Amino acid sequence: MRNPTILILDQSDELADQVSDVIDDLRPRPRIVACQRIETVCDVLSEDGPFDVMVAGPSLGDQAGLARLRLIHDELPAMAMVLAFDHRPDAHLRDLVRVGALDLLQLPVHDKEVLECLQRAVETARRLEPPVPVVVPSSAVAAAPSAVPARALGKVLTVASATGGCGKTFLATNLAYFLARHSGGRVCVIDLDLQFGEVSTALRLKPRFTIYDALQREDNDEADLARHFPEYLVAHSTGVHVLAAPKDPSEADRINPPDVTRIIEAARQHFDHVVVDTPSALTEIVLAAFEGSERLFVMATLDLPSVRNLGVFLTTLEKLKVPTDDVRLILNKAESDVGIEIAQVEKLFPQGFEAVLPYAKEVSRSINLGMPVLAASPNAEVSRAMVPSLAALLPEGHLARVVPPAPVTSPGFLARLFHRPQSRTSSPTRKAEQP
Ligand SMILES: Nc1ncnc2c1ncn2[C@@H]1O[C@H](COP(=O)(O)OP(=O)(O)O)[C@@H](O)[C@H]1O
Ligand SMILES: [Mg+2]
Repeated sequence: MRNPTILILDQSDELADQVSDVIDDLRPRPRIVACQRIETVCDVLSEDGPFDVMVAGPSLGDQAGLARLRLIHDELPAMAMVLAFDHRPDAHLRDLVRVGALDLLQLPVHDKEVLECLQRAVETARRLEPPVPVVVPSSAVAAAPSAVPARALGKVLTVASATGGCGKTFLATNLAYFLARHSGGRVCVIDLDLQFGEVSTALRLKPRFTIYDALQREDNDEADLARHFPEYLVAHSTGVHVLAAPKDPSEADRINPPDVTRIIEAARQHFDHVVVDTPSALTEIVLAAFEGSERLFVMATLDLPSVRNLGVFLTTLEKLKVPTDDVRLILNKAESDVGIEIAQVEKLFPQGFEAVLPYAKEVSRSINLGMPVLAASPNAEVSRAMVPSLAALLPEGHLARVVPPAPVTSPGFLARLFHRPQSRTSSPTRKAEQP
């Protein structure tokens, strides 16, 4: 069983200290994250989560605090909420119910009572857990046993295109979200657009480490890289993990094709699906990704240069003897009245298009929210057009479970309400020792 995670939200550190002291008696020992600045809570929720339990302290005991807690509860209903207040909040019982409060602790409180309360909260959270397994945050994995347990290697799916702006990052992030939600497996995205990668931007993540850092490890043999791979990832609130592209484009030049193979192999040891996003080119780096891929999505948009270059791209693959059986074509941003018809393009590619996706304003909206469009606007035409091609990737028996998902609100939504500051560097967020 994975270690539970508990977030303590309060301006003072007293509550976090008391919880840290008592959790030694809980098994498995929970991981504690303390957040003392309410404005940074959405960052903490998305970067250090998912959390099983949140304990809100006295500084959240006024109307404004309860309103904030209610927003958090609306967004993360599976997280058990405990209120630890030193006075009865000046609020109706109804407000406390709306916050989703599972338990109330009247401060000061005995350690034993805190312990029992947390035990119950963790158990309740486990029962509320969504069907998709919540992935252990990378920071928790860092404390995992030193060997990678033997398991079936994950499948690699790569998204590529000849021209830029075709929607590779858009498809890669949606593909990853779809698999995480419906396959029941663990999913990560590797951003191989080494110079201008945008996976973390599209998901509004702030990665601490990148692929470059992972490859910089000193004793960088295969086993060591595989063992420590999860430490270099950043987790999205949907459970998708991301290995970000280098922060500085100059670092990209120092990464070579064998590095890419090693990174992908390390990822396969931890994740059931490894989605690879690539730059708009057929470089050696991209070819290294193709080599280990089970499926290759090649994208084009509905304009002449893109369609023409799709042809060149496919011919080049053939010349390079890259097997094309597993290649699937996706036509994106398809609009009528742009002087080129979908039917004309389809005639040029006898293998056909796996999906034709319309141009949709929901895509920009989803990017601004930091959410895949399948999560933010599941009923949009573009989402519906995408699902059949993605559903084909699910393991047998999972297809029936593909139902339109409920819209997910992004952490960005909370961020706006909570007046997120520009930088987290001054955040006094404090992490207790790993279990
Ligand atoms: N179907 C679509 N409808 C509207 N905008 C889209 C669609 N697909 C992608 N976009 C937008 O087009 C831009 C380029 O997409 P992106 O995924 O970054 O392309 P690539 O990774 O191939 O360069 C992004 O701003 C993205 O939001
Ligand atoms: Mg991209």
